[in-house]
Amino acid sequence: MGRKLSPEEQPWCIDKVSGKVLINKGVENVCIDKSTICFIDGFNSKLYYRGYSIEDLAQNSTYEEVVYLLLYDKLPTKRELTDFSGWMREERDIPREVDELLCRIPVDVEPMEVLRTAVSYLGNLDPGRYDTSREGMFRKTIRLVAKMPTIIAHWYRIRSRQDVICPDPRLNHAENFLYMMHGTKPDQLSARAMDVSYILLAEHEMNASAFTALVIASTLSDYYSAIVGAIGALRGPLHGYANVAAMRQFEEIGSPENVEKWFKENILTGKKRVMGAGHRVYKTYDPRAKIFREYARQFAEKTGGKVKDYYEIARRLEELVMSQLCETRNICTNVDFWSGIVYHAMGIPIDLYCTLFAASRTIGWSAHILEYIADNRIIRPRLYYDGEVDREYIPIENR
Ligand SMILES: CC(C)(COP(=O)(O)OP(=O)(O)OC[C@H]1O[C@@H](n2cnc3c(N)ncnc32)[C@H](O)[C@@H]1OP(=O)(O)O)[C@@H](O)C(=O)NCCC(=O)NCCS
Repeated sequence: MGRKLSPEEQPWCIDKVSGKVLINKGVENVCIDKSTICFIDGFNSKLYYRGYSIEDLAQNSTYEEVVYLLLYDKLPTKRELTDFSGWMREERDIPREVDELLCRIPVDVEPMEVLRTAVSYLGNLDPGRYDTSREGMFRKTIRLVAKMPTIIAHWYRIRSRQDVICPDPRLNHAENFLYMMHGTKPDQLSARAMDVSYILLAEHEMNASAFTALVIASTLSDYYSAIVGAIGALRGPLHGYANVAAMRQFEEIGSPENVEKWFKENILTGKKRVMGAGHRVYKTYDPRAKIFREYARQFAEKTGGKVKDYYEIARRLEELVMSQLCETRNICTNVDFWSGIVYHAMGIPIDLYCTLFAASRTIGWSAHILEYIADNRIIRPRLYYDGEVDREYIPIENR
């Protein structure tokens, strides 16, 4: 028999005020550093990138402008934006070797896993991969932010046995992505909705994937490893993959008339969680969801058919969530509840939704890596040891 440790033997786990063992399960409400990148006011439905409200950015800016803002901590002048967008456009092509790799991946592999593999390989092929200067880090960031949509679109075309489409430098980031997916220039609503989607998902403070990126970067590992790790974290349904799960949930519900019954049988009984609802930080409505919801409404009105059905299912389900979970338990619908309907209206297959999230968020991860390593300290939390020590070691023949 061994013996259990007392809390006094692990004083780092004891709260100085209460004198009790303090465990922040899920690292809830732990501030790991100072930052000037993003602020979420989860009680008042507010989100700011570098001090600018998400509503202003979604209304007035483009993704290119937001990428610049997140990287350089200022809005670009016209001239700066033109140069910067030009740089992003020049970086869109992916090496032939990456396309060849994509051709070898089985078509039924989850797109997030494909993206993880392709980004890792892209890192192997980057001649500047070990350049850790600030300029080198900026260059790698732009390289990856620009290339990620190309990887996704090429994977989509390769797995559906269609020719890949090269980026068109005349189009902006969002338009070009839709063009590489479908081979036609998007209509105005789709182009703007995709641009806004990129903006809304560009950054979100110290979530699980950003934290993963920082844990990796804080060991002074390389940039691509940090991003690959972040992609892995985003892939879970409690995080970015919730946009896929939310859409599958609408499919499972099937029609607007089934919403109430489905909610009673699955949610009120505690059998399932509403995918696209609840948040560690937002205790009220997610401001990004409001913006996506409006685009979903516009698409439903314009397109009708299946999009309208999904919109109606989501609208009814949201009503139930808001009246029965949000008011009493602060579980309100979030960004992933609505984004999928917008993507569906733009002809994007459901299983790709999370890759769109990753492509948008790469700038946020990169901004955090840059900020953190400028004043780096390895991230190394503790666990409260609840096992035994001093157990007697019995030789294998006597066990
Ligand atoms: C996002 C999420 C992981 C946050 O988790 P968290 O802050 O750790 O909250 P917990 O998992 O501890 O949940 C707290 C309580 O709320 C409930 N809850 C949380 N989200 C819920 C949801 N979407 N539907 C129903 N109940 C939910 C939990 O069952 C738990 O109930 P209990 O106290 O009776 O056990 C969680 O809300 C979730 O799983 N949401 C669905 C997935 C999703 O949309 N993710 C994207 C987030 S942007």
